[in-house]
Amino acid sequence: MSAPRGQFTSNFGFLMAAAGSAVGLGNIWGFPTNVAANGGAAFVVVYLLLAFMLAYPVLMAELSIGRHARRNMVQALRGISTGPVSRGVGTIAGFSGIIVASLILSFYAIVAGWMVAHLADPFATLMGAEESAQWLTGNSAARNLTFTAIFSGLTMLIIASGVEKGIERWSTLLMPALIILLLLLIAYVLFQPGAMQGLEAYLIPDFSKLSPQLMLSAMGQAFFSLSLGVGTMLIYGSYLSKQESLPRLGALVTLIDVGIAFTAGLLILPAMYVAQEAGTQIYSEAGELIAGPGLILQVLPALFDTMGHSGLFVAIAFFALMLIASLTSSISMLEVPVAFAIENLGMKRKPATLLTGLVIFAVSSLIIFNFDALFGLVVSVSTEYGQPLLGVVLCVFAGWIWRRDQLLKELQEGHPHIEQTLFWKIWPWYVRIVCPLLILAAFVQTML
Ligand code: PFF
Repeated sequence: MSAPRGQFTSNFGFLMAAAGSAVGLGNIWGFPTNVAANGGAAFVVVYLLLAFMLAYPVLMAELSIGRHARRNMVQALRGISTGPVSRGVGTIAGFSGIIVASLILSFYAIVAGWMVAHLADPFATLMGAEESAQWLTGNSAARNLTFTAIFSGLTMLIIASGVEKGIERWSTLLMPALIILLLLLIAYVLFQPGAMQGLEAYLIPDFSKLSPQLMLSAMGQAFFSLSLGVGTMLIYGSYLSKQESLPRLGALVTLIDVGIAFTAGLLILPAMYVAQEAGTQIYSEAGELIAGPGLILQVLPALFDTMGHSGLFVAIAFFALMLIASLTSSISMLEVPVAFAIENLGMKRKPATLLTGLVIFAVSSLIIFNFDALFGLVVSVSTEYGQPLLGVVLCVFAGWIWRRDQLLKELQEGHPHIEQTLFWKIWPWYVRIVCPLLILAAFVQTML
């Protein structure tokens, strides 16, 4: 007999873990930078629509398959298959999910490592260690390797402690801290000169920016933000008790994710204009708002520098926020290969964590040493293509391959009288037809 599977001890624990997976650099960095690059609130509107109309239904597919199967993605998709073809496709998709989750973690750990280095920087400054401070914020391979290793080590420590003592305990501690830090930072920034201009740039839509490319960016952002397609939500669903209502918890996770992304916009965009007011360049030579790494690693630190001593504390709060957001996401990514190693290879949790963590760290190192060639490529293959396409596969499995009576039974567990809800009437058809078509249409559109 294999060891008993882990399980979340409460629905709050699950909620914090799943929302912790969803809320990450994608919300606090990706979403505001996408907004800045894509016409402000026009992007926000498209994003909100896609999050509820596309990402939530796909999330529900993952959660219900996971809770039904009580296994990792490979086993789960094989388990609901009905013949050799679907079993083969399920196996391939399951392995692809594990590979894509690991690839995402390999670049995510590098970016999160930058956050740890920038968090250490104000401490070095406070201690008068100027040279160390410079090294911490420089972009050397040695620095990147060191901090990617530190971040990966933290992720591995939490995952090695298991579902209840690792994932659940740390998520329930860190998520409230994240929300408090975010609100404190917003309260501070909104009172600085220039902040209102940032709010305008954020909240007034420029619909002329709407384009197929924008739709695809918004869809990629929604899939990334809700951690979809790669089996993360599936495996978290597999640790959830049958007494909880899936549609309700899934909706809460989506709401928290979207809510925190929107709230982060209230911090980042105003902060950019406060930085401009303080003399920092926030437009590129092409006249576009600076997005991407330049925003978080140059514009905001330059702003903190202008704030004198209090800037050190604001910097600590900001990068602590980024670190917390990253950790609750990275643990969910690492759990994907770890669960596979435990369930399919018969490994114990600790060696499984060490092995998969080290393999992923090796990939991160490869990216660090070939940054220009690999970083963008890995991001785009895994998040722009991998996640949405695997999302299609999950919808097809939930909608077409899985026996309908079993799917409906899974939804009924923990949700009495679900037959009377709109969800029950719409979702089973929606995930079957509308979701796959919408995702594929978004791809086709950009090719035309
Ligand atoms: N949702 C995370 C974020 O927004 O930063 C990223 C992520 C986590 C993607 C887990 C994929 C995943 F499996």
